[in-house]
This record gives sequence, structure tokens and C-alpha cells, in this order.
Amino acid sequence: MFNNSNPALVTGGCGFVGRHLTRRLLKEGYQLWIVDDLSIGLHPDEWLPGNDKRKEIAAGVFEYDDGGVIFVHGDARDFFSSRIDLGTLEEPAFGDVFHFAAVVGGRLTIDGNPLAVAIDLALDALCFNWAVQKTPERLLYASSSAAYPVDLQGEDGAVALKESDIEFGGRLGQPDMTYGWSKLTGEYLARIAHQHYGLHTACVRPFSGYGEEQDLTYPVPSIALRAAKREAPLTVWGSGLQGRDFVHIDDCIEAALRVLAAVNDGSAVNIGSGKLINFREVARLFATLEGYEPEIKPVEDKPVGVHSRYADISHMKEVLDWEPTISIEEGFGRVLRVAHERKAQGL
Ligand SMILES: NC(=O)c1ccc[n+]([C@@H]2O[C@H](COP(=O)([O-])OP(=O)(O)OC[C@H]3O[C@@H](n4cnc5c(N)ncnc54)[C@H](O)[C@@H]3O)[C@@H](O)[C@H]2O)c1
Repeated sequence: MFNNSNPALVTGGCGFVGRHLTRRLLKEGYQLWIVDDLSIGLHPDEWLPGNDKRKEIAAGVFEYDDGGVIFVHGDARDFFSSRIDLGTLEEPAFGDVFHFAAVVGGRLTIDGNPLAVAIDLALDALCFNWAVQKTPERLLYASSSAAYPVDLQGEDGAVALKESDIEFGGRLGQPDMTYGWSKLTGEYLARIAHQHYGLHTACVRPFSGYGEEQDLTYPVPSIALRAAKREAPLTVWGSGLQGRDFVHIDDCIEAALRVLAAVNDGSAVNIGSGKLINFREVARLFATLEGYEPEIKPVEDKPVGVHSRYADISHMKEVLDWEPTISIEEGFGRVLRVAHERKAQGL
């Protein structure tokens, strides 16, 4: 499953998913390059193992851990266009590439600033153009469950979304805002990169990844913090009856690595738990874990997105011979422990 004889590249490696992946790859003996503009991500000084040994090699280019990790603080669009001065360093022949850099930003950004999200189209187009020239051994593209047709996720008739609900060459449907459109296009480019240029590419469609370190703009950590403060009533956005499929970040990373090893033709695999849980249930679970019984109160004027988005995980199980191992109770318990630390820091 691992391919660590050549350095890996992680774009967006300082973001939520990227930091988890980076730490996992380092454990598995990879050398790494990270490219991140830190628009959202955290500086590696704050989280990278071995961060006490840092050297700046060129403006904005840092070496950590005696060269085990190279961090390029810059825009991935510039990196892919060779517009970043690497000083004395040369770009290596990469083994695995994990393209995670994207404008994501949660529901407020997806609905509130859709053209900012459309920058992802430029990022992805440049990524695949770079990749077919540089021919890394394998490339994983982070798509999203937002690529699925929104008409399968309404109040009436929501279904467990399966990979075949998006048919390139057949029914594509209407993805969720510019975010979903750009992910759908990115998947198409991954297929083209394989079919026309022979590149090993794979796509993942994560559902709602969550975890201890996630930013408070995301619902799970923010509801957890409100529960840790024993807010009563405990609020949820919208009616609270809208549901998602929550999957812990450690399971997401395991699944992503397995997908990269199992798929080479640019096709996509869901990463989900297969369970639909609405936000009232999320709030109730955090309250129960916290040991109190508040009223759960909807805040109707907030953006909520589609009504019900959850995965059919039969293809995932078949292709990966694996399914998520961290139960929602275990995962939310971990998030709640961190929420208490955040509360103690005055957040
Ligand atoms: N977290 C999830 O549940 C989830 C679900 C579906 C898909 N995804 C996808 O996984 C990837 C990672 O998501 P995340 O949750 O870690 O998001 P994130 O916002 O935490 O991370 C994205 C990272 O990309 C960086 N970035 C943004 N634009 C950049 C640019 N032009 N050049 C260089 N770096 C740039 C940001 O600074 C950030 O560190 C994204 O592609 C996202 O669409 C995530």
C-alpha cells in the first residue's frame, strides 16, 4: 500500500486532512514535500514533528528534520507553474502526490462566496497539467461527496449515494454549488490524465470528515464546544433535521491510502460510514457524552446545504476490503475532550 522510495508531495498539507496525512506518511517512512499557502492551514512550526530543526533554504522554502520534509510556503498554482524559486533545491521525481489544496471553507464559503471556491478549477487544472509532464508514480485527487447530484439529497427521496450515481458519459446531475462542480471537473481531469497520458490516478469522495483538530467553522467541533460549555438550549443550524455521514479523520486517511493503492484509472471511491445522522442527533449525542440534557434549538437563518447526504459504502468495502473502525461515540468522545481543552483556553 505504501510507496515511499521517492518523496511524496502533499498540496494543502497544512490543512485539516493534510496535517493528518503528513503525520501518517512520516510514520510510514516517507520523505515529503508540502506546498501550502497557509490561507487556511497552520504553519508546520505549530504541528510538524521535528519542527525544532528548521532551515530556510530560499525565500518561503523551508527544510525540516534535515531534509525529511520540505515545506514550500506558496500558492500551489505557482508551484505547478514552476514560478517558485526553490534556491539550490531541485524538484525531485515524486512518488505519490496527494492533491488536497483547495478553497473549502465550510457552508458559509460554499454558499456565500462561490466564485472564490471556483479558484479550485484553476488549481486542479494546473495540478493535472503539471502531473502529466512530471509523471509522478501515483496521484490521489481529493474530490468530495459534494460532487453528487443534489436532487438525490433532498427532503424527499434522499438515497445512500453510490459511486455509479455519477456517470461520466452518462448522467452527471447537478453537483452542489461551485465546490461540487469543481470537484466533478477534477475527477474528470483525473480520468483524462489516466486515459490519455497513462498516469496512475485515483479519486476519493469523502463525506463529512471530522476530528479533534478541525477548525471551529465546522459543525462537529463547534457543537462539541457549545456542549462542553453546557449551553442550554444547545443550538444547531437550520431545522437540525438535515443529516450527514460523519467519518473520523483517521479512518479517512486510512481509506485514502487504500484507494490510492487499489485504483489507478481515475475512478472515485466514497469515504463514509454509510450512516445518516441529523444535526439534532449530533447535538443530542454530544450532550449525552457531556452528561446533560438541554433542549436542542434550531437556528433557522443559517445556511444548511442539502437535506441528507450519506454514502453507500458497498463499493468502498469491496474495493478496499476495509470499512471505518472508529464509531461515532468514540470519535465524538475524542472531539469533546479537545472541546474541553479549547474551552479552558477561553475559546
Ligand atoms: N474535510 C472533509 O471532510 C472533506 C470532505 C470532502 C472533501 N475534502 C477535500 O479534501 C481536501 C482537504 O480538505 P480539508 O478539510 O483539509 O480543508 P482545509 O481548508 O483544512 O485544507 C486545505 C488546505 O489547502 C490550502 N490551500 C488553499 N488554497 C491553496 C493554494 N492556492 N495553494 C496552496 N495551498 C492552498 C489551505 O491553506 C489549507 O491548508 C480538499 O480538497 C477538500 O475539498 C475534505
